[in-house]
Amino acid sequence: MPRFIGAFFIPIIMKISSIIFCASFFAAVLYSCSENKQPATVQQHNEFADSNDASCSQETIKDPNNAKPMALMMRQLAANADSMKQQILRGEQLDSTRYPFIRFYLVEPTDPNVLEPQFYENARLFQEAYTELFKHPKEQSKYHNLVIGKCINCHENYCSGPLKRIRKLLIQ
Ligand code: HEC
Repeated sequence: MPRFIGAFFIPIIMKISSIIFCASFFAAVLYSCSENKQPATVQQHNEFADSNDASCSQETIKDPNNAKPMALMMRQLAANADSMKQQILRGEQLDSTRYPFIRFYLVEPTDPNVLEPQFYENARLFQEAYTELFKHPKEQSKYHNLVIGKCINCHENYCSGPLKRIRKLLIQ
């Protein structure tokens, strides 16, 4: 009888323990990923990502290293705006194919509560100003500042953390 029980239960116990082992292995992998302070993502190339003052506020940005798609797009937007400013200051003409409009309002934000009519209206006005910029190659500084003004308008309502840095994107 004990032999029968052993033959019957040992494989089951082994299966269960291997399942537990796998589960804890995956849990450990997931945990170490979420703990990773320097993941090799887009962030490393972008000064906006390295600083905590770039994030919205403590309530919305829970972990700056596991950013939601909208936050990642915002970092790209900010990096592009900075490089556009530098180009304008060098007297170069902006090329719209190098800076395609980034549809950040279609992707998941950290805080889903931002997705309300006022947000989409701000996004629409921003996109309008962005399109205008490329239509005025002779007045790029002026139209660049109008674009940054739209970043600021939205950020005053939805994400005030990065405002100081966004204001630095203005051309004086
Ligand atoms: C329509 C509103 C809106 C506009 C326009 C907008 N933003 Fe944002 N921005 C947001 C929201 C909302 C977040 C938070 C995103 C999230 O956490 O998912 C954000 C986040 C950011 C962040 C922080 C990203 C991070 O690291 O977590 C930066 C930097 C930023 N925006 C810069 C800009 C710049 C520069 C512009 C203009 C070129 C701009 N934003 C235009 C709403 C906007």
